[in-house]
This record gives sequence, C-alpha cells and structure tokens, in this order.
Amino acid sequence: MSKIIVTGGAGFIGSHTVVELYRAGFEPIIIDDFSNSEQSVIKGIENTIGDSVSWYPADCNNQQVMETIFAREKDITGVIHFAAFKAVGESVQQPIKYYRNNINSLLVIIEMMLKYNVPNLVFSSSCTVYGQPEKLPVNENSPILPAQSPYGNTKQLCENILAQIGLAGKPLKSVALRYFNPVGAHPSGNIGELPIGTPGNLIPFITQTVAGHRPQLTVFGNDYNTSDGTCVRDYIHVVDLAKAHVKALELLDRTSLSPFYDVFNVGTGAGNTVLEVIKTFEMVTGRKVNYKIGPRRPGDIEQIYAEVDKARDVLRWQSSLTLRDALKDAWNWQQKLKEKAEQTAT
Ligand code: WQD
Repeated sequence: MSKIIVTGGAGFIGSHTVVELYRAGFEPIIIDDFSNSEQSVIKGIENTIGDSVSWYPADCNNQQVMETIFAREKDITGVIHFAAFKAVGESVQQPIKYYRNNINSLLVIIEMMLKYNVPNLVFSSSCTVYGQPEKLPVNENSPILPAQSPYGNTKQLCENILAQIGLAGKPLKSVALRYFNPVGAHPSGNIGELPIGTPGNLIPFITQTVAGHRPQLTVFGNDYNTSDGTCVRDYIHVVDLAKAHVKALELLDRTSLSPFYDVFNVGTGAGNTVLEVIKTFEMVTGRKVNYKIGPRRPGDIEQIYAEVDKARDVLRWQSSLTLRDALKDAWNWQQKLKEKAEQTAT
C-alpha cells in the first residue's frame, strides 16, 4: 500500500481526506500537533473506516521530529500538507506567527521529501489568492491579486515556492488545490468541523445558532451588488473536497514529468448567497435560523465562485454532493456533538 503523510490530518479537511485516502487504497499517516484539533478526531476517523490509523502528535516545523518520522516510515510516496494556521483576522494581528508557521512548515516538508525521495506533494491553497475578481467565474489563469492578509499572502507565497522548486530542477511533483468554501461533515456523523470559540465561518455559526449555543446569526451586509444583496460563495462539500486530494495524488502518480507543478480550483462551479444558504438550511432541516441583517464585515469579498473545467478535465474530479447535502450533514454533525457532550456530562 502506498504510504501518504497527511499533515494536519486531524483537522477538518485533513480528517475527511484521511478517510477518502484509506477508501481509495492508500495508507494515510497523520501528523498533527493538535493545536487546532482534538485527539478524539482520530477515533472518529477509525470509527468511520473500521480500522486503525497511524498518527504522530508532532509539529511539522520541528525538523528533528520530522526527520525521525520520515526515516522511520520508509517508502512514503506522497505528502498532503494541510497543517497551517488559517484564521484571517488573527493573521492580521499576528503576522509573524503566520509567516513562521505556514511558510517554514512547507520548507521543512519539501526538504524532507527531497532527502527521503518522496516524489508527490499536494498543497492546500485557497481561492483567497484571487481576491475580489473582476470576472466570474474565476479560473486558474485569473489574476492573483495582492493579498489582503498575511494568511492570504502565505498561500500565495507557498504556491510560488512550489513553482520555483520546480524551476530549480528539484525532483518534486506538486499540485496546489485552491479550495473555495469547504462546508458540511462526513455523513456518518463521526467527523466534522470543530471550531474553537466563536466560529468565524457561516455554516458552523448557523448550526450553533440553531442548536441554541448562539442567540442569533448576523448576516454581514445585504447591500452588495448580488441577487439578494448578500455575498456569494462557492460552498463545496468537504467529502467532495477530500476526494479531490486523492485525485491529485493519482494525477501526480501518472505524471512522468519531474519536476512538475500545477494548480486547480476545487469548487462546485456555482455560487450561493448567504440568504440562499439560510433558506436551504431551513428547508433541509425543518429548523428556523434566527438571523438579523448587520453591517458588512470588513475585508469580505462581494462574490466569488469557481470555474472547474480544469479540475474536471485534468484532475478527473468534479463535485457530486449538493449544498443541501452539505447542510444536512453539518446539522447531523452538530447534533452528534451535542449527544457526545451530554454523554460526557453524565
Ligand atoms: C461566508 C459568507 C460572510 C459569518 C473563508 C476563509 C477564506 C477562504 C474561504 C480558506 C460571507 C457571511 C459569515 C457570519 C455572515 N478559505 N457570514 N455571518 O469569508 O468566504 O472565507 O473561506 O482559505 O480564507 O476565511 O467564509 O464562512 O467566513 O463567510 O453573514 O456570521 O458568510 O460575510 O459572505 P469566507 P465565511
């Protein structure tokens, strides 16, 4: 079995990807420092796949520890590098923390891969590299705009590093996946998103409000130039997104070119407004979302959604789950979390 290191494998997208890797016949090996996840996620993954999974509690900035893992786990064929800080607002407050962690960890990973002859790397990038695009949908050749936050800048810099490693002739094959808005949870209810503190993202805020943990959702602005005045995003089910990583590894495997670097949008190709998300949630779950319209959130982009032709044609991947599926699964996950909390309390 082909061994794949998954950094950040206990995180939201990482945990779902570990499941899909296992199902596709790979052997995932998780490296996670649990700075933004919990060890219980490993159990959730194991319950989902019905098997145990290898994992190391480690920070991938720690070169020595990484060295030990790469030396011990021989014959690794690929790395999926999720581990990174991802809070846009925090990155503005603490830029050094973001640059140090997000850039350095990629450099350590690349050094390890070159040293231990690991050929294939999949990197988590973001549609944030497009900023507010002039033309929609955005494709992979759309302009990359100056980053609005240190977080966004780390994604751009990491993409450039990967492209330049190739130009330097190093034997590394890599793919950057530009995620649009990942949402939902595993339909089993075993794994999902675990936001720490008040969620910044829309879907966990909705599910926590409906579950009674938050009094009310604020819709950030309804005076945008969109169909109902609220912002438009391309919401992609996390299970579909996870599958794109398997496809990326398969693409790298069948690519004889080395060095190799390419980039793909991973979205559904369609946009939805915030109010459409709320209405769909209410329809799918039969629960009312208590919300009010508030002011715009500084830094928000009016609208963005992906062109996904390249992913379909080259990556041989396309989304198959809907926004309804994602919202149903997110709500199911929220309810499972409540059950777990109640079990712990009794
Ligand atoms: C979605 C929409 C909000 C919360 C995030 C990351 C970004 C990138 C994509 C990672 C927006 C509105 C939200 C709330 C609201 N991914 N909203 N009330 O802003 O698209 O970006 O995912 O790299 O870096 O930050 O996602 O879920 O925060 O917002 O009205 O309480 O919901 O204004 O229109 P966003 P989000």
